Amino acid sequence: MNTPANPARPTISRRAAAFDSSGIRRVFDLIRSLPDPINLSIGQPDFPMPEGARQAACEATQAGRNGYTATQGLPELRERLEAEVRMACGQPERTLCITSGTSGALVLALMALIDPGDEVIIFEPAFVMYRPLVEFLGGKCVVIDTAPSFAIDPEQVAAAISPRTKAILFNSPNNPTGMVVPADTVQALAELADRRGVTLISDELYRCYCYDSPFASAADYSSTAVVLDGFSKSHAMTGWRVGWLHGPREIVEACTTLQQYTFVCAPQVGQWAALAALDCDMSRPLAECQRKRDKLIAGLAGHYRFVEPGGAFYLYPEAPDGSGKAFAERAVKEEQLLVVPGTVFGTADTHFRLSYTVSDAMLDRGIDALIRLAT
Ligand SMILES: Cc1ncc(COP(=O)(O)O)c(C=O)c1O
Repeated sequence: MNTPANPARPTISRRAAAFDSSGIRRVFDLIRSLPDPINLSIGQPDFPMPEGARQAACEATQAGRNGYTATQGLPELRERLEAEVRMACGQPERTLCITSGTSGALVLALMALIDPGDEVIIFEPAFVMYRPLVEFLGGKCVVIDTAPSFAIDPEQVAAAISPRTKAILFNSPNNPTGMVVPADTVQALAELADRRGVTLISDELYRCYCYDSPFASAADYSSTAVVLDGFSKSHAMTGWRVGWLHGPREIVEACTTLQQYTFVCAPQVGQWAALAALDCDMSRPLAECQRKRDKLIAGLAGHYRFVEPGGAFYLYPEAPDGSGKAFAERAVKEEQLLVVPGTVFGTADTHFRLSYTVSDAMLDRGIDALIRLAT
């Protein structure tokens, strides 16, 4: 081949350059460099994907079910989930599409709704993908800072709505704070969005990690809300990339068309595994997760300031020396402890995220290390 010795370097787009993964990547790089880290930084369950789902994945592969599926998902899975959703919220018209993980659902919902210049109200601290994806589409994030209570105030949301507001995007139970939005707030948000002609997008991926009160879905209060969900956290299937979204027919049909031109479909074997996962009893691993939450809260009480989380599998304490970033660096250096600085989830550098989906031995080591770091 005849290639020039010094070819001009390709320049990546401004859009791609705007994504910054340095915070999370730094943590992953660190994990590789430490011999025996205490890793409280990982955002996925520590229990195995259920046996029935693993079996179904093996059988599907062996049976040659390895090709594309319908864009909107395997009929067996899509129809079952749609029937469950319609029954739960009493909306016989609600429509559901299977997506490539909840991330896929998020991408499609935003692509279906956001035009350049549109505003999306988000709440910080927020899941890392929200802001870059809105900006990727030429939208603008109007950020409501929920610190220090991490509660959503519907009046503040009402005041943030402008003629350009297209959507309100929220997440409960929340990554990274673990906060669960109470039912009356979900209802107030849904009614506000409907009154003002704005789409409420509700990321309910951690729905089954709701420890102290029943979970309230945006779909319980609005027929126009778009709900994002998935199997990653509920059934420890993060690698299988199966999620879904549901909402009004016209939005879901737009998402399905967009899926045809982007992800094509969710992986077929993952969808068969997900169908089997629906019949697996997850109550034990979920109860274990609640027990670990209680253990971490009890272990850190009096040493750190934090709002007690009612869900997900995260705790979001205040950094004792003021900076979450500095604390995360000190934790690695002094204790080989990995935590995620709050700057990954927003502009404030005041907190850090702990994930308690680890073995009891790791959690005990983590608590001991955190207590030493607090003094
Ligand atoms: C709040 C939230 N939404 C969406 C996702 C993406 O999940 P998935 O693995 O299903 O794409 C995550 C993953 O951590 C998350 O925390």
